[in-house]
Amino acid sequence: MKLIVATNNAHKLVEFGRILAPLGIEVHSQKEYCPDLDVEETGTTFAANARLKAEAVYKATGLMAVADDSGLCVDALDGAPGVYSARYAGENATDAQKIEKLLDEMKDIPEEKRTARFVSAICCIGPDLLLECEGVCEGTIGYECRGEGGFGYDPIFYVDGRSYSEMSGEEKDAISHRGRALRLFYEEMNRRMNRADQ
Ligand code: IMP
Repeated sequence: MKLIVATNNAHKLVEFGRILAPLGIEVHSQKEYCPDLDVEETGTTFAANARLKAEAVYKATGLMAVADDSGLCVDALDGAPGVYSARYAGENATDAQKIEKLLDEMKDIPEEKRTARFVSAICCIGPDLLLECEGVCEGTIGYECRGEGGFGYDPIFYVDGRSYSEMSGEEKDAISHRGRALRLFYEEMNRRMNRADQ
């Protein structure tokens, strides 16, 4: 099966390939098929934004498209940055600037109140297909960056004492919001294909 991943985020594309390729799904980037497409994320939920992105790529290509909309929800900040995770420190801010802003806002929050979760909403749209699912990973926000790998808020999101950045790609995928969401997506896709075969 071939899927167009509706994202311009190279890191997300790597994760999609790493998680889905071993399951027999060939992933292609939006850039290969519609390089000028830039979808405005006007939704107020992860699911709504994932749908906007998948719909736009499906309409532009006529090929099965899958999108992820994801973000970090911090309890002490009433769920922020949430759907605004990418733009938390302004449209063109770097990952380092977003992290700096978040750590600054949380500098007085004690350890036990630093709970947070990453959420990934997946939407896949194709001919006669609309499939939506969600994955969540619970963790905490550290006081400092740890580790070298990953992207976005990875260096400050800790699960069982290690940041996402301190994990190998495969270790992150095994527990991450995106890993969980994409495995659910794969299972549901298989279920539907088996049903169609009967
Ligand atoms: P969007 O889904 O394109 O709106 O962007 C989500 C934003 O959330 C990214 O730009 C990152 O800042 C953050 N994010 C989503 N998933 C991850 C992850 O796996 N690690 C670190 N940051 C992430």
